[in-house]
Amino acid sequence: HPIDRPFHAPTDLLAVPAARGGCPFDPPPAYDRAREEAPVSRVRLWDGTTAWMLTRHEDVRAVLADKRFSADATNPGFPFLSSGRRVLATMSASFIRMDDPEHARLRRMLTGDFIVKRAEALRPRIRVIAEDLLAAMTRDRDHADLVPEFALPLPSLVICLLLGVPYTDHAYFQQRSNTLLSNTASLEQVQAARADLGDYLAELVTAKRGRDDDDIIGRLVRQDVLTTEEIAAMGMLLLVAGHETTANMTSLSILTLLRDPEQMARLRAEPELIRGAVEELLRYLTIVHTGVARVALEDAEVGGRTIPAGDGVLLMLNSANRDDRAFPDGDRLDVGRDARHHVAFGFGVHQCLGQPLARTELQVALDVLLTGLPNLRLAVPFEEIPFRHDMLVYGVHSLPVAW
Ligand code: HEM
Repeated sequence: HPIDRPFHAPTDLLAVPAARGGCPFDPPPAYDRAREEAPVSRVRLWDGTTAWMLTRHEDVRAVLADKRFSADATNPGFPFLSSGRRVLATMSASFIRMDDPEHARLRRMLTGDFIVKRAEALRPRIRVIAEDLLAAMTRDRDHADLVPEFALPLPSLVICLLLGVPYTDHAYFQQRSNTLLSNTASLEQVQAARADLGDYLAELVTAKRGRDDDDIIGRLVRQDVLTTEEIAAMGMLLLVAGHETTANMTSLSILTLLRDPEQMARLRAEPELIRGAVEELLRYLTIVHTGVARVALEDAEVGGRTIPAGDGVLLMLNSANRDDRAFPDGDRLDVGRDARHHVAFGFGVHQCLGQPLARTELQVALDVLLTGLPNLRLAVPFEEIPFRHDMLVYGVHSLPVAW
């Protein structure tokens, strides 16, 4: 396997993921430079191997729509961002790491649960959950940490409801999920978290056999097409992808708006902008920030360069979403712009399955917070906010606010 071969890339290559610069909302300045000067460039990974980094909107979309690039991490040359990521990608066989037709076969079993119509039908329930969380958070208090009290429980409660996972177990699966998404957790920690979650979900699947539960896992059990392990792997993907992402988008969006009073005022004055504002915030913040990985199965030309078969590719969604060619004045947040062609949810066959749900959750969360807390403000200096530089999904570890 090429990644096990001792190999040392020239040290003048950019090491990725690169560090952010002065503004914690902006992608690493090195990606901006690459986008202008060398949009398809070789970079160095943590283990000394190299991969290609793509930074332009057009090139990122082209590769994500191209069958010659595989998402299957068992292919030689697949680029990993840490040792933990390597273990995870190769030990858990969920469809995010498979190619068609196997990927399509498994994904199709869930598409009905995540279409726009379903997400819209859930909107009133999501609103009740959000309003209940807000009421609990503000009762007899004038400050709180928005992450554990609102941003995280909202999508966590929703995905538990859909999957049929008891929310009372949230401390257990949130802690494991957090480890799985950490870029700095040790190999042993990642393996243990993966094993715990796998066992937990397999037990849940087994318990649902012979029952008539009206939820996604219950239905997959009754369909009797997949094994317990396959259903558990699917459940794990949905559980992990389904709460950390929306949670971080919620808190990071609120923080962004608190730092940009002009855009905040505009959104409060024109609530009908919420839908568009969510798209713009998804674009501007692009929380899947470390690069989506693929490997070339054949020689393929991208952006005027040939990527040889067997080479890894990292698609920098955060850079693509700031590309002026696709979004004029891309570094500017503008809640009134049309940002619908952003790639924050990816692109092509692996484009985020949960995006209609994520959109509804974010629209409701922002609306409930902005309407319910007209005096919302930071409770600590901005410099003290702990950003998630160490995590696969960007955001903040905590967000102390007052109202
Ligand atoms: C895939 C982002 C919310 C489930 C993806 C991908 C991205 C992404 C970038 C593509 C990965 C790739 O191409 O390798 C986001 C963001 C979210 C979000 C930014 C919230 C703001 C959700 C939610 C769910 C979910 C709420 C589930 C309920 C999935 C699944 C895939 C996926 C199952 C794999 C799809 C496939 O491989 O066919 N997401 N996601 N995501 N997401 Fe999301």
